[in-house]
Amino acid sequence: MAKRGISILKGIEAETVTELLNKAYCDEWLAYYQYFIESKVVKGLMKDAAIAELDQHAADELRHANMVAGRILQLGGTPVLHPKDWLTHSNCGYDAPENPDVLTVLEQAIKGEQCAISVYSNILDITREKDIITYDLVSQILADEVEHEEDLQALYDDIHEFIADIKKNIH
Ligand SMILES: [Fe+2]
Ligand SMILES: [Fe+2]
Repeated sequence: MAKRGISILKGIEAETVTELLNKAYCDEWLAYYQYFIESKVVKGLMKDAAIAELDQHAADELRHANMVAGRILQLGGTPVLHPKDWLTHSNCGYDAPENPDVLTVLEQAIKGEQCAISVYSNILDITREKDIITYDLVSQILADEVEHEEDLQALYDDIHEFIADIKKNIH
């Protein structure tokens, strides 16, 4: 634990921040696994484009887990040690891709990103001008999550349109 580093917090306890970050840390691991397994099981039209996107997101969520764990340690906390605690500590939970249809998988993923965006904007509100290091780190992650939502929505819309075109040509 870096004492001087912690002393720069203004009007917020390190423990308050590590609790928020630990919940987000669990979200990141669950998001990582959700993308990992979705990319394996997804089926349907344009699934290769979906797989490329899902794999990229999985890598990003794992990178976020790394960033968040690093900050928890700097603040004297301990990142959640057991995977069994991921679900109970998470904000956004886990949506198993029981239906492997590409549009359903993308819908679930979009919902997950929207949850992540809410979680990180809440952490920004709480840490603004109180913990600038966390604020800066979370801003970077939030920018990725916003991009994730946008990429998934664009892909969803493309596939949706493609299917609508096929149906139009059949009739
Ligand atoms: Fe993330
Ligand atoms: Fe994400």
